[in-house]
Amino acid sequence: MKQLTPNQIVKELDRYIIGQDQAKRSVAIALRNRWRRQQVPADLRDEIAPKNIILIGPTGVGKTEIARRLSKLADAPFIKVEASKFTEVGYVGRDVESMVRDLVDLTVNHMKMLQQKAVTEKAEQVAEERVLDLLLPDPAKRRTAAGLPYTGSGAEEQASVEDRSSTREKLRQMLRKGKLDDRYVELDVTERSMPFVEVFSNVGMEELGINFKDMLGNLMPKNVKRRKMKVADALQTLASEEAQNLVDMDKVVEEAVARVEQAGIIFLDEIDKIAGKTSGQGPDVSREGVQRDLLPIVEGSTVNTKYGPVRTDHILFIAAGAFHTVKPSDLIPELQGRFPIRVELSSLGAEQFVRILTEPRNALLLQYTALLRVDNVELVFEDDAVVRIAQIAEQVNQRTENIGARRLHTLMERLLEDLLFAAPAVDQPRMVIDSAYVDQKLGKITEDEDLSRYIL
Ligand SMILES: Nc1ncnc2c1ncn2[C@@H]1O[C@H](COP(=O)(O)OP(=O)(O)OP(=O)(O)O)[C@@H](O)[C@H]1O
Ligand SMILES: [Mg+2]
Repeated sequence: MKQLTPNQIVKELDRYIIGQDQAKRSVAIALRNRWRRQQVPADLRDEIAPKNIILIGPTGVGKTEIARRLSKLADAPFIKVEASKFTEVGYVGRDVESMVRDLVDLTVNHMKMLQQKAVTEKAEQVAEERVLDLLLPDPAKRRTAAGLPYTGSGAEEQASVEDRSSTREKLRQMLRKGKLDDRYVELDVTERSMPFVEVFSNVGMEELGINFKDMLGNLMPKNVKRRKMKVADALQTLASEEAQNLVDMDKVVEEAVARVEQAGIIFLDEIDKIAGKTSGQGPDVSREGVQRDLLPIVEGSTVNTKYGPVRTDHILFIAAGAFHTVKPSDLIPELQGRFPIRVELSSLGAEQFVRILTEPRNALLLQYTALLRVDNVELVFEDDAVVRIAQIAEQVNQRTENIGARRLHTLMERLLEDLLFAAPAVDQPRMVIDSAYVDQKLGKITEDEDLSRYIL
């Protein structure tokens, strides 16, 4: 993937997220800076530390959505984690270092996949040869394998070799045309899956950076099984086995770790959940501890992973939080200092709701239309209906709790419930939703505050 300019990044985000321009700009700049740093001469490169960002905004205005979309754009190791999932070192749960380990894991797997793709052609060639071997076994090998002495004399042998190679070529042509796909062959398949290991989770073993499953997998003898399968499947199985053998894992790991150290991005969602004064009891105990554990990682330290030590100095952190009941200043001061860039996301009103309903690639209206089209119901939204839904969303958000764009989900579900239930057995296959329909379905509930608290 090529490197996107900040402008292009914002454009890409625009396809899914309405408004929040400042937040988009900041993350776009940060993303581009990762790449810029790589181009700087080496001595200065090490001095350039990432400028971490906090996205602050009420619930449901697109913070997580930005992260989600960004992860698809970033041509860099990227992981999104919820800060609230972690516990202080020493308590049962995930320690904060696991986010770095996960990032390395992800990157190694991703790069392994890329490498395997790069060798597919070679692997497919090898697989083809091996399938041909299976289809046309070497008689010499067969006899000796059976314990019989090989009896072919010189001339005979010569003739049969030529014969065989022309047969083999014929078979190859048939194979490539797919004419042999339904024939069966027997082959040895290596199986290393041991589902029972899943029962033990990695919790507890994590600090050691040891993956229990991998460890056992390597200890246990490879489980080779003879299986009968169709030629087409055999080709695939052998090709993927071969691809794995062709990839140099040491190199993949080395590159992946370097990528993580130089270009990695960690999105720390729900950071406000670990802010706030601890009351000293209950689940709160670990909040401040988690923040303190976070410090060294954000500041730059070495985390041990099963792929070796990983330095976090240049990993970029983007944090996000609603900061409803707490403020960024409730984070411990050291941590505040590690996130110099603060961006506020604005809360959304009816105007934005109209756009959110219609404009994004994954807009809600498109989703429902597509769902009902499956049942041959054509759903049409009049413009005034969309405006009405947006107005109601704003109104309910003001009167009850402001849950941002999430309100649209609850409203739409309510609005279309009857239709979704009745389809495909509706009277007309074309359903036009106008503002009257919206009022009819939602009017009563929105007028009654208590009712809307429960239903919407
Ligand atoms: N600006 C926006 N443009 C398009 N869709 C949006 C926008 N804001 C929110 N949404 C939609 O609303 C839903 C919730 O948004 P999101 O998960 O980003 O909220 P959030 O800001 O992370 O809230 P929280 O603080 O509760 O985690 C998503 O389905 C998202 O598609
Ligand atoms: Mg969120």
